[in-house]
Amino acid sequence: MAFLNSQIDTQSEAFRQRADDYAALIDDLDRKLAWARAGGGDKMMARHRERGKIPVRDRIDLLIDPGSAFLELTPLAAWGLYDGKVAAAGIVTGIGRIRDTDCMIIANDATVKGGSFHRETVKKHIRAQDIAAENRLPVVYLVDCGGANLNQLEEVFYDENHFGGTFHRQCRMSASGIPQLAAVFGECTAGGAYIPALCDEFIMVEGNASIHLGGPPIVKAAISEIVDRHELGGAVLHSRQSGVSDHIVADEYTALGRMRDMVGALAYTRLPAVNRIDPVPPVHDIDDLPGIVGTHLSHPFDQREVISRIVDGSAFHEFKPEWGDTICCGFARIEGMAVGIVANNGVLFAEACLKATHFIELCDQRGTPLLFLQNTTGFIVGRDAELGGISKHSAKLVYAMSNTRVPRLTVITGSSYGAGNYGMSGRGFRPHFLFMWPNARLGGMNPDVGSSVLMDLRMASISRDPASKEELAAHEAKLRAMFEEKSDPYFCTARLFDDGIIDPRDTRRVLGLCLSVVTGRVEERPSRPVYRM
Ligand code: COA
Repeated sequence: MAFLNSQIDTQSEAFRQRADDYAALIDDLDRKLAWARAGGGDKMMARHRERGKIPVRDRIDLLIDPGSAFLELTPLAAWGLYDGKVAAAGIVTGIGRIRDTDCMIIANDATVKGGSFHRETVKKHIRAQDIAAENRLPVVYLVDCGGANLNQLEEVFYDENHFGGTFHRQCRMSASGIPQLAAVFGECTAGGAYIPALCDEFIMVEGNASIHLGGPPIVKAAISEIVDRHELGGAVLHSRQSGVSDHIVADEYTALGRMRDMVGALAYTRLPAVNRIDPVPPVHDIDDLPGIVGTHLSHPFDQREVISRIVDGSAFHEFKPEWGDTICCGFARIEGMAVGIVANNGVLFAEACLKATHFIELCDQRGTPLLFLQNTTGFIVGRDAELGGISKHSAKLVYAMSNTRVPRLTVITGSSYGAGNYGMSGRGFRPHFLFMWPNARLGGMNPDVGSSVLMDLRMASISRDPASKEELAAHEAKLRAMFEEKSDPYFCTARLFDDGIIDPRDTRRVLGLCLSVVTGRVEERPSRPVYRM
């Protein structure tokens, strides 16, 4: 494979300035991640510990194989919502290795509103389950959860992708042989109780765990029975009398150890990724990425500079390098695993669409997973473009990308506007994973174009009174601010339009973990659901 030379002068003043500017973005990301990690705050965390409970991220650390990585998903869900009081949407999800088996871990944070499910909590839980189902990862639920958030039932209870949808997914995954395991740590009512109740096997911690379809206040209201939560659904009752629970343990440490044993006992073999060879690090330094990309979308950069810093040995076999130059396609390896890369170098013209379509077909035929590096303002517009058939050429790209049989990963490295987002494997097209960099912007239109279109409509409106120049200027400023706010990466991640914002310098590591998940094979076993008896 050809070696990618770099044209970047890392000693130049401009490079250093961009790197410094980007450092502020990384600091900002780190501050926001600290908010997610703090959960419900010091007071709630202290109460949690007094109850003999371990903070949710520490539980995960104790659960996964020592020294192994945990790929956390969308830690900034619910950022900027609910006055900042629902850190990480009250749930931690991600992929971790337990007894050498990659598992999806879904863990409630009881310090955040009792671990109850807000709109973003449900969305995050479902996203994790869908990744598990698609990649046949066993799911481990660490349950500490007050069920649906009663202030928001219309957002979490009624619809197909609400709480009921999470249980439906549990049943379907169990039926297809994807193990569903739980450990219960706290008081779990209604939906909180159904998570373990619909698992194949689960553990309860004596003294703290209880599960009941209705908690003591509900029981009192419904049938006037006064009962405490342990008599109603404690670990002793369920493990020694009702037979609902499969294991009772004395404390959380034992529960996490028992869960490791349960995963080990699955003997769930994931075979190594297809055709994986020994990885070699890139020759060019990944730490250069912030200085290459910078913080202003108007600063152009060649995606080959990015590719050369994330692929093995900075080696890249480029496809059609001299045609359709606003898109760059080629084969490489990341952490030893083959990948076909499709990367924007500007607006998508007809040639770029055709080249990417052809390349996607090659990857499909060869079984090579695809990586899309997005940085585009979209497909070319205008009369000439329409005359040249951009609508049909862009559609070819969308068809090929949508129907390819190989896994797709997407990273938004800059702009992701308009239908360009679609053609380049945006969220609506269900890439296996999608991450954003902190400098990225995502939206239907960039703020200049979007505000201009709406201003034209406002001026032409016959349903509204004429406005003064000042009023129109204020309106335009408001529109621009709206487009800017809605394309901000934190606005997007808060609403789970991605799987997380990552530091560009972590891109290779994150993609390596994702590739090993999407290409690791699991033997299909004929299966049927496990009915709890
Ligand atoms: N809906 C809305 N808010 C909830 C909630 C729920 N299901 N469960 C907890 N909360 C809120 C509490 O109102 C409280 O909010 P505040 O900090 O603004 O006052 C916060 O979460 C912490 O609750 P708290 O009761 O202090 O925590 P806890 O750790 O002692 O107990 C629970 C946690 C979940 C056991 C307890 O809050 C509870 O029983 N909640 C109701 C569960 C329920 O009936 N669910 C039915 C779902 S259909």
